[in-house]
Amino acid sequence: MVQKPETGTAVVRLARPDVGEEELAEIREVLESGQLTMGPKVAEFEALLADAAGTEHAVAVSSGTAALHVAVLALGIGPGDEVLVPAYTFPATANVVALAGATPVLVDVDPVTMNMDPADAARRVTPRTKAVLAVHLFGRPARIEELPELPVLEDAAGALGATHGGRACGSLGELGCFSFHPRKIVTTGEGGAVSTNDGALAERVRSLRHHGWSPSDGYVDMPQPAFNYRLADVLCALGIPQLRRLDELRAAYERVAAGYGQRLAGLDVVLPGVDPGDRHGLQAYVIQLKRRDEVMAGLRAQGIQCQIGTYALHRLGAYRSQGSFPGADAAYERALALPLHARLADGELDRVAEALDKLVSHH
Ligand SMILES: Cc1ncc(COP(=O)(O)O)c(C=O)c1O
Repeated sequence: MVQKPETGTAVVRLARPDVGEEELAEIREVLESGQLTMGPKVAEFEALLADAAGTEHAVAVSSGTAALHVAVLALGIGPGDEVLVPAYTFPATANVVALAGATPVLVDVDPVTMNMDPADAARRVTPRTKAVLAVHLFGRPARIEELPELPVLEDAAGALGATHGGRACGSLGELGCFSFHPRKIVTTGEGGAVSTNDGALAERVRSLRHHGWSPSDGYVDMPQPAFNYRLADVLCALGIPQLRRLDELRAAYERVAAGYGQRLAGLDVVLPGVDPGDRHGLQAYVIQLKRRDEVMAGLRAQGIQCQIGTYALHRLGAYRSQGSFPGADAAYERALALPLHARLADGELDRVAEALDKLVSHH
């Protein structure tokens, strides 16, 4: 989306993948090898990812949505089952449950953390509830330990590099799901992965991404029909150098987040936070404020790209009629994602802060 500022100054971009010569060199290697998919880059990418996710296994797939879909199926979830899903999240989180033939049961979110509200989750458990799909929204680690005692599937789409209680997001539940869409800190253009410490689940995910062929017998038999959700070597190659410099990328994102923290401290906005000791994944820098739409329009008019946080599912046709979700409504109406990427300059931070200073009231 290209926006022209009124003032003629450069656009401040919401997101910008940090890719360049190293990625080109990796991709060139794949092109020259002649093997664009099912080659060695997949395994290399998966090993780096397993390391970052703190799990024994990582399985690369074609998107974060594909990761969630195969994770739900790997847990054996299907018709008649219910899965708890936050009412405020990217719709794919709930879509995959519905597409598996099960029922996504919406749970309200805490209006401050914007993650699932454990008390509301407990109220919505029934004998049919098979799992809880915990989202680390925008990279903020969810309080998994407060959720009902059910198998946990983590939507860690934006939580690569985040930690909760000293453990990496993606290693906290039965399975973790990552996205490598370009608004994520590591991107493959489109891509995703499933992380797990459970070898049997990893096998099932490998089978589900590859038509249902069975990994245990060398992909000879096909015990069940499944998908082609593979991630091509050429895309894994794009992700490899970024995973290698994940710490460096995280430091650059943290510099931006700290820069916002200092500049916006006096404004009447809620800044993103984490629980003590946790590390935020910084997929997005999402503030909460009154008159969000007006402020968003004001920023855009000055060439500052910004976006709503994410979606309140009960307001979408697919998920209406599950009741009221005041926490999700508040987040949906108040959340605003500000520009965040590794190369965001201090001058750009100043511009965003100065624009907000004029648009937002002070404490
Ligand atoms: C919380 C969450 N879940 C799932 C997804 C889906 O990931 P993908 O776009 O890679 O399919 C996203 C992506 O934006 C997301 O933010």
